[in-house]
Amino acid sequence: MTCPENMFFLIVLFMSGVLACFGQRHMIATMPDKLDGLTGSCVEIPCSFDIPDQNKYKFNSAILTSGVWIKESPQFGGRPDNVIFNSSVKDNRYQGNITGNMSQKNCTTVFFNVTTNYTNKYFFRIESQPFRATDPDKSVDIVVRDLPSSPIITVSGEVKEETSVSFNCSAVAPCPEHPPELTWTLPTQFTTENQLQENPDQTKSVLSTVTFTPSYLHHEKNITCTAVYPVGSNNKTAEHNMMLNVSFSPKNTLASISPAWG
Ligand SMILES: *[C@@H]1O[C@H](CO)[C@@H](O)[C@H](O)[C@H]1NC(C)=O
Ligand SMILES: *[C@@H]1O[C@H](CO)[C@@H](O)[C@H](O)[C@H]1NC(C)=O
Ligand SMILES: *[C@@H]1O[C@H](CO)[C@@H](O)[C@H](O)[C@H]1NC(C)=O
Ligand SMILES: *[C@@H]1O[C@H](CO)[C@@H](O)[C@H](O)[C@H]1NC(C)=O
Ligand SMILES: *[C@@H]1O[C@H](CO)[C@@H](O)[C@H](O)[C@H]1NC(C)=O
Ligand SMILES: *[C@@H]1O[C@H](CO)[C@@H](O)[C@H](O)[C@H]1NC(C)=O
Ligand SMILES: *[C@@H]1O[C@H](CO)[C@@H](O)[C@H](O)[C@H]1NC(C)=O
Ligand SMILES: *[C@@H]1O[C@H](CO)[C@@H](O)[C@H](O)[C@H]1NC(C)=O
Ligand SMILES: *[C@@H]1O[C@H](CO)[C@@H](O)[C@H](O)[C@H]1NC(C)=O
Ligand SMILES: *[C@@H]1O[C@H](CO)[C@@H](O)[C@H](O)[C@H]1NC(C)=O
Repeated sequence: MTCPENMFFLIVLFMSGVLACFGQRHMIATMPDKLDGLTGSCVEIPCSFDIPDQNKYKFNSAILTSGVWIKESPQFGGRPDNVIFNSSVKDNRYQGNITGNMSQKNCTTVFFNVTTNYTNKYFFRIESQPFRATDPDKSVDIVVRDLPSSPIITVSGEVKEETSVSFNCSAVAPCPEHPPELTWTLPTQFTTENQLQENPDQTKSVLSTVTFTPSYLHHEKNITCTAVYPVGSNNKTAEHNMMLNVSFSPKNTLASISPAWG
């Protein structure tokens, strides 16, 4: 019986073939794992790529490079409809623009006017004669919703009467050209500072910091952070309410004694 030996040989061949095909990435793309989009607005995908062995693969950044986005799966062979954007093509399935400088391996891309049916997984591919490669191991999950997600309020430490305190409110900015505007509603006077921030995964957020001095009268009163997203000629709003928990010293004695002095 030679069969088992032959089978073993075939398996070894098959395994090494699989490793040769999938064991290395000819191009490595870097982008966030997940992005939230808002219907009617834009989505910016922060993106960069690298070619580990440029000489071997004859990649020349001076040669005009096409950037291609493929939805669902890195294989688009039998599914040309999955190629939703090709920077060498004028009329794409998705309206978009590669705003990054591809010569600097920056593939940052903006898709305009997104709708909920854009919710999918997206792979990046470059085509630069003779080099062509898709990174099959990295994709970005884009989730497009009709309403924005609520901003997030955080505070550090205890909220004490007569002691200045700061709260942060952070709201995602998937379309950094039209970031949300953050406003606060508080039971007292306050000052705020807003800024567009880059997160560690290169997505953007708007951060608003409010500073005020609470009194015992503010205990169990609400503070609200409202995010207003401009979408076309309209606005979409999301907010976060938080009840203040102010620690204060007893007030009854003071309140009953003061009139006696008057
Ligand atoms: C991108 O467009 C170019 C120019 O039309 C074309 O040669 C290439 O095949 C396209 N790539 C894909 C993946 O469709
Ligand atoms: C695409 O982005 C580039 C670089 O930011 C810009 O110059 C160009 O006007 C944009 N094109 C469109 C159609 O928005
Ligand atoms: C990539 O391009 C985008 C859009 O032009 C820009 O905002 C970003 O700073 C660039 N990234 C790097 C690492 O240069
Ligand atoms: C893109 O980067 C290349 C190389 O750094 C530079 O020569 C070129 O001017 C840049 N293009 C734009 C539109 O900034
Ligand atoms: C976005 O799509 C809507 C409806 O499909 C259209 O009326 C509008 O002009 C589009 N806006 C842009 C900037 O393309
Ligand atoms: C996506 O949805 C929009 C409107 O919501 C519709 O006009 C468009 O045909 C849909 N596209 C696909 C590919 O289903
Ligand atoms: C608010 O955000 C800033 C910047 O990320 C950070 O330095 C600060 O500690 C935060 N403060 C609170 C109260 O979370
Ligand atoms: C949208 O909100 C901004 C403030 O964030 C306001 O100035 C503008 O009037 C609002 N537009 C509409 C159409 O409500
Ligand atoms: C205060 O905020 C809480 C949630 O933290 C909410 O349930 C309540 O309705 C709010 N009260 C007012 C008066 O807005
Ligand atoms: C307010 O803070 C005190 C002390 O930290 C805690 O015991 C109490 O449960 C808090 N109350 C509310 C409503 O969060």
